[in-house]
Amino acid sequence: MVNAQPPELPQDYVELRRRLCELGRACRVLAHTGSTNDDLRAWAREGAPAGAVVVADAQSRGRGRHERAWSTPEGETIALSVLLRPPLSPQDLPKVALSAGLAARAAIDAALGGRGRPRIKWPNDVFVDGRKIAGVLVEGALSSARVEHAVVGIGVNVARTVFPPDLAGSATSIALEGGDTDRVRLVLGLLDALDVEVRALLAEPSALGARLRPWDMLLGRAVSLDDGRRGVASGIAEDGRLIVEVEGVTVLAHAGEVRVLPS
Ligand code: BTN
Repeated sequence: MVNAQPPELPQDYVELRRRLCELGRACRVLAHTGSTNDDLRAWAREGAPAGAVVVADAQSRGRGRHERAWSTPEGETIALSVLLRPPLSPQDLPKVALSAGLAARAAIDAALGGRGRPRIKWPNDVFVDGRKIAGVLVEGALSSARVEHAVVGIGVNVARTVFPPDLAGSATSIALEGGDTDRVRLVLGLLDALDVEVRALLAEPSALGARLRPWDMLLGRAVSLDDGRRGVASGIAEDGRLIVEVEGVTVLAHAGEVRVLPS
């Protein structure tokens, strides 16, 4: 019979659990899991409160948008999911993802301490110098009129220095950019920044486009739309859609309808 020991929590996450969970926040810090988003969705259905957090050192089934795999090797990334119960309607969910992107960008900026300039690649990625450093996956439980809850999943490449061949060249990490790889500081910074961004979204939803504009990586980039038309990205609308100028006409495009053309 195999006597499998459960994986041990790494030292930094023992410290994170102490800092995060012992001060009253509903929180689970795990060594290994399938997906922190799946864990938190299950916990939300059992009644987890707003603000509940699941963090894992490693995930075996980490997911990105379009069910793409998100790789989470031990000790090298942050895999974090946060539960929101915002007074929003289902069509507002893209705004939550963009707000989470702003929060991830701010926390990564602080970790980089001025080395590199993290920017948001609409709709849900954070890039540094053309390479992806973080991604956001927001999954909502919706009724027809409102968001019952939203699970905000954030993955950040922290200490990774080697990527598989399909990601090498298009991915980077805080370590590769010469930043501070302290995961405790980064998770706490991310949660604070998310709090700031969600409050800003709820207080002044129409300001979202303006908050994103300084960090909008697609601004001025050539894009093509699903129907074959080509245009230039010129900002993010307050409802979270991409603004595209197509031959003098302004078009608002949803995620999934736009392809960024090589510059
Ligand atoms: C993307 O790039 O499309 C989004 C990636 C999101 C990954 C995070 S890691 C924490 C949370 N758990 C998951 O399974 N996915 C998100």
